[in-house]
Amino acid sequence: MPGLFITFEGGEASGKSTQVKRLERRLERCGRQVLTVREPGFTEVGSAIRRLLLYAKEGSSMRNETELLLFAAGRAQLVGEVLRPALERGLVVISDRFYDSTTVYQGIGRGLDLTFIKLLNEFVVGTCIPDRTLLLDLDVEASRMRRIRRVRPVGGEDRMERLSQDFFERVRRGYLDIARTEPGRVKVIDASKTEDEVEEAIWKEVDGLLV
Ligand code: TMP
Repeated sequence: MPGLFITFEGGEASGKSTQVKRLERRLERCGRQVLTVREPGFTEVGSAIRRLLLYAKEGSSMRNETELLLFAAGRAQLVGEVLRPALERGLVVISDRFYDSTTVYQGIGRGLDLTFIKLLNEFVVGTCIPDRTLLLDLDVEASRMRRIRRVRPVGGEDRMERLSQDFFERVRRGYLDIARTEPGRVKVIDASKTEDEVEEAIWKEVDGLLV
């Protein structure tokens, strides 16, 4: 596809949203047309799924298998409705999370079957594979401290944020394993640095992709 597809991954409070905005602005200053999305969400269907997954009271009885399929369903909608058409039109697309989140949160974190998740991810995204994935890596304790300091909207933590430190340790290790397995696509960025330093490290990984 003629466009460029960049995804951001990382644990909670790793600074993804801030860096997504900074990269978007920087690309626009270079004259690129950019579309930024987040997962789960963005489409109408995806936003309804996000509410159910993260905030609805019905979510408290959700089974892990259901959670996996809902994340996949939101992504299928996003790929078909938004991502593929945008990449075909030659846009730069930035997604705050994509299928690596499912591999690590539902596969490694929840312990669901990784072979099935790989097939499901392939079924959902088809050829819509990121050109570059920026993994914002942050120590789990540092992430916890950032979350404590965060100014929160009314409602507090979402359903996933309430998971244990052990879960987030598995998530972090899972991400680093993916980066080791796919070093060409996935670049590890030290998210403990200042926002400016993280932005520069990200730019180094993206700049070379722009033609
Ligand atoms: P966030 O986008 O605000 O970080 O919230 C999304 C939450 O959902 C986050 O805890 C990661 C989790 N998640 C999964 O567990 N699986 C997925 O496939 C995706 C996209 C997100």
